[in-house]
Amino acid sequence: MSFFTTGMSKKTLLSGIQPSGQLHIGNYFGAIKQFIDMQDSHNAIYMIVDYHALNTIQDKKVMSENILNLAIDYLALGLDPKKSIIFKQSDVSEHTELCWIFDTITTMPFLMRAHAYKDAEANNKEISVGKFNYPMLMAADILLYDTDIVPVGQDQRQHVEYSRDTAQKFNNVFKKDVFKLPEPKILDAVAIVPGTDGRKMSKSYGNTIPLFATDEEIEKAVMGIVTDSSGDVPQNVYAIHRLLKSEAELKDLYENSKGKYKVLKEALIIDMKAFVKPLREKREQLAKDIDYVLDILKEGGKRAKIKAEKKMEQVKSAIGVDLY
Ligand code: ADP
Ligand code: TRP
Repeated sequence: MSFFTTGMSKKTLLSGIQPSGQLHIGNYFGAIKQFIDMQDSHNAIYMIVDYHALNTIQDKKVMSENILNLAIDYLALGLDPKKSIIFKQSDVSEHTELCWIFDTITTMPFLMRAHAYKDAEANNKEISVGKFNYPMLMAADILLYDTDIVPVGQDQRQHVEYSRDTAQKFNNVFKKDVFKLPEPKILDAVAIVPGTDGRKMSKSYGNTIPLFATDEEIEKAVMGIVTDSSGDVPQNVYAIHRLLKSEAELKDLYENSKGKYKVLKEALIIDMKAFVKPLREKREQLAKDIDYVLDILKEGGKRAKIKAEKKMEQVKSAIGVDLY
């Protein structure tokens, strides 16, 4: 590879997932697949955002297990520590430090416009200060690394906009271009993967197909997909099938089996099993070598920390606290 095609000219891409439970195929097609596809062409940084998850996971054992599981998942799916920085948020304390600085230039009404906050309010849920402030921690995650692109699902678009606004606000208030403005990267076709009930697939709705599901779990989940009785094509089945196969590949099957929901579900089960099997096997391999996985996280944390420290020097200089 020539000197000019390495490192320097690549854009920086960053994303993160909360260690808050089992990954599902919505996470994969909506977000992680892009993480993997973009590793070669970008300086990629992928986080396990454990401090975000602390808003909901407040149990030591569950937290540790979830972090480790997500690290194994990342590697099993193809994130490569030789190409990308893979780390956990809590290893780089600059994230929470910068979050605080952002808090001081951010107003309550600005944060009250966040969908997540409004939803919680609408449902009369008591929301923690951490959850209310979530967009600021996410802004710190993104802005610390001069990120150009943030690949996420549609539901995270607003959070990336919060990061842009916060970068701009900081640069204006302190009259220095410290932060780059990041762009979200959302693939329209898979922006919202539907769950087995037709709503957005989400662990909070219990409508998921787990990404590393056993054959039995796949059968159960697919057979449980809600089918409307009106059309020839069961839309919820088709929408998930389309993730695995092209329209052309599915055309004959769906035309020949109009209205035969069971036949179509069985076909989806076969394709889903074939898709999941190699991933599950890779995962089982990795799970046998926990030390290897932990070393990758540790190393990633060190590499990220060096970058974050450099950025914080610029931040501290811009706000005027760097006296020596
Ligand atoms: P969940 O809704 O299951 O809690 P998360 O909020 O942890 O999922 O999402 C992790 C990543 O996966 C985010 O980038 C999110 O946008 C993406 N994602 C989650 N569910 C879906 C879905 N149904 N379709 C597309 N992308 C999704
Ligand atoms: N908010 C994201 C989610 O719930 C997770 C996240 C935290 C993230 N920090 C990030 C995503 C930075 C992209 C970039 O899915």
